[in-house]
Amino acid sequence: MRKRIVAGNWKMNTLLKDGMELAKAVEKLEKEKTSDALMIIAPPYTHLSRIKELIQGVKLSAQNCSSAEEGAYTGEVSPDMLKSVGVEYVILGHSERRAYYGEDNELLNRKTKLALSKGLKPIFCCGEVLEEREGGKLFDVIREQITVGLKDLSIEDMAKVVIAYEPVWAIGTGVVASPEQAQEMHKFIRGLLVELFNDEVADNMTILYGGSCKPSNAAELFANPDVDGGLIGGASLKAEDFLGIVNAY
Ligand code: 13P
Repeated sequence: MRKRIVAGNWKMNTLLKDGMELAKAVEKLEKEKTSDALMIIAPPYTHLSRIKELIQGVKLSAQNCSSAEEGAYTGEVSPDMLKSVGVEYVILGHSERRAYYGEDNELLNRKTKLALSKGLKPIFCCGEVLEEREGGKLFDVIREQITVGLKDLSIEDMAKVVIAYEPVWAIGTGVVASPEQAQEMHKFIRGLLVELFNDEVADNMTILYGGSCKPSNAAELFANPDVDGGLIGGASLKAEDFLGIVNAY
């Protein structure tokens, strides 16, 4: 069976003290969860090493990493540095990175390959903007993001990748994708993985939904056969809401 995951992307929120409190609260609630979903948190870089010491059942992710291994890249954080503080996962290709920092599919492919080679598990994000959906281009956009972003990955690499479908129009807007819209795209992505890799990769791939997911709408999203969990923004900043989403399974 595919691994179910609920991951919290804290984005650029919380100061260290608040982040440590939040991580402690999430770790405590993890012991009370009624579903088998794996809980992951992705705090800001500055908090990672301190938070690592506070969590056990909850797993640790970064929100980004460099495409370079080491050297003169001011302001960058390498996959090895993340590994050295106990990070296990890394979110790559979030739409905010694509939109505000010009990260394109080729760069994301380099980041994904480097992260994997250093033992990190990428949570690879894809998603269309509203005009692309309304213009009927949504499947072409997702096809391109995944085909180029995950190009040349081996079958073994793919077993370590998680995909997150996050329609950009649903992120932070309160407008959640309908269960039908989510299922339609997740099914498309799984079909694409058959085409690009094989049946086993497609069957085993955890595909998360992200975008205005809350305790009140998570159950109907997660009820879909191809939705294997969520990548949560705003609602992951409150431990109880985050647990509410996990328990929606
Ligand atoms: P919201 O849950 O705040 O819409 O954000 C989703 C997201 O971008 C997670 O990566």
